[in-house]
Amino acid sequence: MKSIKTYTEVNRTFFKLERYESPGKGSEAKAPVVLRSIKPEDLREVIVLERLCFQKPFPSSYLSTLAYLSPKTFLIAELEGRIVGYAVASVRGREGHIISIAVHPQQRRKGIGEGLLKKILSILLEEKVSAIILEVRRSNKAAIRLYEKIGFRIEGVAKGYYSDGEDAFIMRYNISRENGGIFRNEGNP
Ligand SMILES: CC(C)(COP(=O)(O)OP(=O)(O)OC[C@H]1O[C@@H](n2cnc3c(N)ncnc32)[C@H](O)[C@@H]1OP(=O)(O)O)[C@@H](O)C(=O)NCCC(=O)NCCS
Repeated sequence: MKSIKTYTEVNRTFFKLERYESPGKGSEAKAPVVLRSIKPEDLREVIVLERLCFQKPFPSSYLSTLAYLSPKTFLIAELEGRIVGYAVASVRGREGHIISIAVHPQQRRKGIGEGLLKKILSILLEEKVSAIILEVRRSNKAAIRLYEKIGFRIEGVAKGYYSDGEDAFIMRYNISRENGGIFRNEGNP
């Protein structure tokens, strides 16, 4: 049977991540990671991060348009004053769309990507979307694992979606709303 969490349960988990201790290892000092909306002065660092994380980065004009139009769904992860990750989403009608997520190569596997994704999901839930979708390169095992861990499921393949010909997996996160409550399904039927 599928496990279903109530909105309150889901939000409690998500909002806890607004400011949290990055796990670190052993006796390493733990530094707080802050998750917040983007500000105009963050853009330069986000563009540098984008170029560091993707072989085919989004144009800076696209990122600045997203930041200008919808800062609420453009989140930054900040560690000791430096931007170490970002996640950006959009809302079209009842559907949320994760446009991109990236974490600085030296800060990966510390829970930052998961924190960003959970927080952006909680924001999209507030926007009353009934599903969230995303596209991910078929070869991008790290991102696919991350999305599956949060509850996304692969619902299809877009053949040759990327400009270099690679396929995309289309992944979906369903949200059902019953009797005024909001429920998150753990995956698709
Ligand atoms: C995908 C990405 C954002 C993950 O960020 P991250 O901060 O390293 O991820 P987290 O530490 O929060 O990991 C959360 C979960 O994701 C999965 N995961 C993350 N990196 C992984 C890897 N290299 N291999 C396998 N699973 C991985 C695991 O399930 C992990 O949970 P666990 O630590 O309990 O095993 C990061 O690898 C990245 O920036 N990649 C380049 C940009 C990119 O491809 N973005 C996605 C575009 S669609």
